[in-house]
Amino acid sequence: LKLQKDLLYEINREAAKFYYLNLGQNREALEYLGRRNLNKDIIKRFGLGYAPDKWDSLKNYLIKKGYEEEDIEKAGLIGKRKDNTGYYDKFRNRIMFPIIDGKGRVIGFGGRVLDQTMPKYLNSKDTLIFIKGNNLYGLNLIKRNFNLNKIILVEGYMDVISLYRNGIDYAVASLGTAFTSNQAKLLKRLNKEIYICYDSDNAGINATIKALNILDKEGLNPKVILLPKGHDPDDFINKMGLKEFEKLIDNAFNPIDYKILILRKKYNVNDIDGKIKFVKEVSVILRNINSPVEREIYIDKIAKEMEISEDAIKKEVLGNNYKNE
Ligand code: CTP
Ligand code: MN
Ligand code: MN
Ligand code: MN
Ligand code: MN
Repeated sequence: LKLQKDLLYEINREAAKFYYLNLGQNREALEYLGRRNLNKDIIKRFGLGYAPDKWDSLKNYLIKKGYEEEDIEKAGLIGKRKDNTGYYDKFRNRIMFPIIDGKGRVIGFGGRVLDQTMPKYLNSKDTLIFIKGNNLYGLNLIKRNFNLNKIILVEGYMDVISLYRNGIDYAVASLGTAFTSNQAKLLKRLNKEIYICYDSDNAGINATIKALNILDKEGLNPKVILLPKGHDPDDFINKMGLKEFEKLIDNAFNPIDYKILILRKKYNVNDIDGKIKFVKEVSVILRNINSPVEREIYIDKIAKEMEISEDAIKKEVLGNNYKNE
């Protein structure tokens, strides 16, 4: 008797094969990937596929292979019709990204539309073998790559793939901006230097700050790669190339510098009100620095930049504990 989990891995693998074979036959999908600079080699390396624009093509394929509808449903690939007349394919007319775990097993999928339809991405629901926040997209490739000393954490499928295509084969994606402590634990186990490179939009910036705090709780001290406003790693490396991206890696920010930089952009410090708010918010960040030396260095820096006495900033940072320092 097969274990339920093993059966779900097997069904997902068969589905990945089905989507991959269908991609080869669909000109529209191939053209779409071509416009995104992805060739046959990359398609194969990431096992990309295409879900046909039909309600039952995957279902019929898997049934023919001998799998039961109930199990295919448990793998998250088909759903029960509302009127209880059977099942339908969940992924239709989408580019398919198999999500593969560190052991090389297909655990789920992301599917992207070829146009502007919403939702842009559809992911497998949570199943016995897939919980989105417990995994990192691209982990399977990292695991085979022993020479690297860095890991870049990005948001999306296309970011991992584009970086890879351009020679950066050490990125993984959190699959959106909801980075979790389980993902932080996965990163920790890899024991590499971590760089966060989320999209340079408000969602990405807020998520970066949250991720920094989650990683800090795991005792990790990552760096942040800053992209020009509005870009994601895929846009940037396609437009600017590997050399320019590597420059950004070299210039990555430590967490405190990054947080200060973001606050600096939030407030107009030429205005008194803005300056006060900026200093107060920075003080909260500095208060949480454990090393007195590091804290002092930042206090001096902010004092100089804001033309405020070190003493005043120190009081703001340390509050009631000031006397004890
Ligand atoms: N995402 C998702 N569901 C959505 C939107 C996004 O699961 N409706 C996840 C996907 O993993 C996606 C990532 O969040 O890759 C980042 O989202 P976004 O930046 O919007 O997409 P991109 O990865 O940039 O995709 P593309 O370049 O294809 O537009
Ligand atoms: Mn985004
Ligand atoms: Mn993006
Ligand atoms: Mn993108
Ligand atoms: Mn001093």
